[in-house]
Amino acid sequence: MKIFLDTANVEHIREAAGWGVVDGVTTNPTLIAKEGRKFEDVVQEICSIVDGPISAEVVSMEAEGMVKEAREIAKIHENINIKIPIIAEGLKATKILSKEGIKTNVTLVFSSNQALLACKAGAAFVSPFVGRIDDQGGDGMIVAAEIVQMLENYDFDTELIVASVRHPVHVVESFMLGADIATVPYPVLQKMVKHTLTDVGLKKFLEDWEKVPK
Ligand code: G3P
Repeated sequence: MKIFLDTANVEHIREAAGWGVVDGVTTNPTLIAKEGRKFEDVVQEICSIVDGPISAEVVSMEAEGMVKEAREIAKIHENINIKIPIIAEGLKATKILSKEGIKTNVTLVFSSNQALLACKAGAAFVSPFVGRIDDQGGDGMIVAAEIVQMLENYDFDTELIVASVRHPVHVVESFMLGADIATVPYPVLQKMVKHTLTDVGLKKFLEDWEKVPK
């Protein structure tokens, strides 16, 4: 199971990459905007830190514009995949880009039917937003589980990225149901490594070590 970092903050990416657990990075226009830097500069720097799939999103609303943007973004680095929104124009763009060998990550997915269409259009990755589904009173993990089953039933090459992860339990649920990837915000990754009993246990070990004759 792969862990991606869901951020455009290069300090956080550098720190987490140093832990040896980051397989890729996902960004979106909101995450890029938070950094106050040029899109190309941020994406290029992320690619220099993590040697794995890096998602960068288009903002056009028509297929033609999406494809044009995607071709330019893809030139930044070979590891880049293009985030495309799951709308009809996005499906058209996904099909064209997959034929050209440009990988896509179909995003803003809230239902398994949307995921099915993304897979059929040739998406390399599909990203259900589980946290935002939960926010609306749904169960994002049920959608993720349906997509896992669909990928298995029909042997699609598409990889499932559980996105809009809000807490460590979402990550546990992701790997229990067999998702390929969970993309986690940095604060969630920090919570994943932490346990109060680890801190208590470590403190006691260090105290007891002081008692050992030197
Ligand atoms: O990268 C897309 C997704 O993970 C966004 O998450 O927390 O804004 O719903 P969130």
